[in-house]
Amino acid sequence: MFNLEGKKALVTGSTQGIGLAIAKTLSEYGATVFIHCGSSEEKAKNISSEIKNSYPVCVNLLEEDAAEKLYAATGDVDIVILNASVQIKKKWDEITEEDMYKQFDINVKSTFQLIQKYVPKMKENSWGRIITVGSVQQYKPHKEMAFYAATKSANMNIVTNLASQLAPFGITVNNIAPGVIATPRNEDALNDDKYRDIVLSKIPAGYAGESYDIAGGALLLSSDAGRYITGTDLIIDGGMHL
Ligand SMILES: NC(=O)c1ccc[n+]([C@@H]2O[C@H](COP(=O)([O-])OP(=O)(O)OC[C@H]3O[C@@H](n4cnc5c(N)ncnc54)[C@H](OP(=O)(O)O)[C@@H]3O)[C@@H](O)[C@H]2O)c1
Repeated sequence: MFNLEGKKALVTGSTQGIGLAIAKTLSEYGATVFIHCGSSEEKAKNISSEIKNSYPVCVNLLEEDAAEKLYAATGDVDIVILNASVQIKKKWDEITEEDMYKQFDINVKSTFQLIQKYVPKMKENSWGRIITVGSVQQYKPHKEMAFYAATKSANMNIVTNLASQLAPFGITVNNIAPGVIATPRNEDALNDDKYRDIVLSKIPAGYAGESYDIAGGALLLSSDAGRYITGTDLIIDGGMHL
């Protein structure tokens, strides 16, 4: 049910954290995986040399024609996991237009354009998996991440829209909403005792998740085990959204 032999997967932002755990997991279950980075080319190459059937590919998703370039580099794939994102933390009335464009371009525009690129072949194959990576902030937005949270909610709306349009073609479209997951992105924040205690007090399970907590959900949605799941928001957050 979880076997991914013969499938190709692209995981954006897979040089560390959640994306890396997803890429490793999909590879373990048989998929050929593209390890994608924005800038850390050496890191992507090194990681790829350690993961069976994987290839590094670096395209900065802030570039104008990023989706075109990434698609040209990978060719068609069966599974697309749109995990890369940018998060800018500022008070809501201090967020600049540049901050907005940056977060919108990577978190929403490139997500949408990449889906546009990869879907035609999935339709031809009558099989495809699209997963966006959102956030618990769709439900509980952080006061200093108002625009970032909005981009994550925008993705869920895209998922809802496309899931019904693509279901007749054997393509599922889902979102995973992680809660607080210990990754390099929030390492400093979680190492701050005071901040960590505040964060943990908001998680019913009482602890921050690991990247592999998200990878399990991604495997389910990527495989035939998840073939009847579409248009859903898989919240993996130790109950934080409740
Ligand atoms: N960690 C959490 O607690 C948490 C909670 C909720 C949601 N999420 C979401 O989960 C996803 C992964 O989070 P994470 O914490 O694992 O992230 P992370 O540690 O910050 O890693 C981000 C990845 O995205 C890539 N990336 C960043 N900017 C890019 C750009 N301009 N173009 C292409 N790639 C770029 C990075 O590669 P380079 O370094 O090469 O650019 C890296 O591989 C994100 O969508 C995040 O919003 C995370």
